[in-house]
Amino acid sequence: MQGRVQYQSEQADEGLYFYDFNVQSHDQKQEILTGLKQSPKTISAKYFYDQQGSKLFEAITCLPEYYPTRTEINLLRQYQQQILERAGEQCLLIEYGSGASTKIRLLLDALKPKAYVPLDISKDFLFACAVQLRAQFPWLEIHATCLDYHREATLPAQLPRDFKRVAFFPGSSLGNFTPSESLSFLRGVRATVGDEGALLIGVDLVKDKGTLNAAYNDVQGVTAQFNLNILSHLNHLGDGNFNAQHFSHEAFFNEQESRIEMHLRSDLDQMVYIFGEHFVFKAGESIVTEYSYKFVPQQFERLARDAGFVSHKMWCDAGKNFALFWLEAEG
Ligand code: AVI
Repeated sequence: MQGRVQYQSEQADEGLYFYDFNVQSHDQKQEILTGLKQSPKTISAKYFYDQQGSKLFEAITCLPEYYPTRTEINLLRQYQQQILERAGEQCLLIEYGSGASTKIRLLLDALKPKAYVPLDISKDFLFACAVQLRAQFPWLEIHATCLDYHREATLPAQLPRDFKRVAFFPGSSLGNFTPSESLSFLRGVRATVGDEGALLIGVDLVKDKGTLNAAYNDVQGVTAQFNLNILSHLNHLGDGNFNAQHFSHEAFFNEQESRIEMHLRSDLDQMVYIFGEHFVFKAGESIVTEYSYKFVPQQFERLARDAGFVSHKMWCDAGKNFALFWLEAEG
């Protein structure tokens, strides 16, 4: 993997660095075509996050039905001091899937990290957010790194050394991996933070079906727009002709698999071209666009242990909707 990664770095100003581990377009093509040839047809959830998709996701996080973000933010606010005690001073703070870097802002003033390393796949959004963050925290050294953390675990060699590495993976984004992907992702994080490192991770918990289904079927239809936007992103990447008006958003909790499933259901028989290939859709056939696994705490702790972490602390809201775990690396 490392051998084929294109790498550029540029010092934008003193203290603000950009790295671009170019996502290769031929890899995307292969991945998208392979997914569409599967049964059921599948598009990886990471293709939600073009510029428009990242904006729509930010809008989702403000919806009344979408409890994870506000619950996690409250936990970060409430337990800031305890987090600081565990992270220590001057850590190297690495955020996986940083998006608008909203949550990290709650910790920066208290943590005063040596440097902050936001990792995200959406380059323009990442770089714009890094510039904004630097303006708000002029003392903060930022190493904004564009990479696909689903595939690439290697960080820029130029990062400051000899500081405790604390990874931050909020939002229960772990839930968007399959169980085996979760394990290999966590093992990758474990390798990145090293023997002295730690991981602060947000995890959405199993709860009643009604709350879960409402969170992915908001009345304003923002989640539906987010789901359908993946088609225009694919059209852009592969010169495709998906017509979003011919698909419908669908999301439901699959109790047996302990996951929300998001689908795009074809409203009619149709044929779609993308990357020069054609795909036939029957009316009612659906494309899987996202799984969002929900966890039982003990089950999550087992997963963390299998990846080389030990759970030192779980912070949770009174309704047991969402949890933040502090995991320490263990040899
Ligand atoms: C980013 N991820 C954790 C969100 C989730 O809840 O699985 C993505 C999302 N999909 C629909 N709404 C939010």
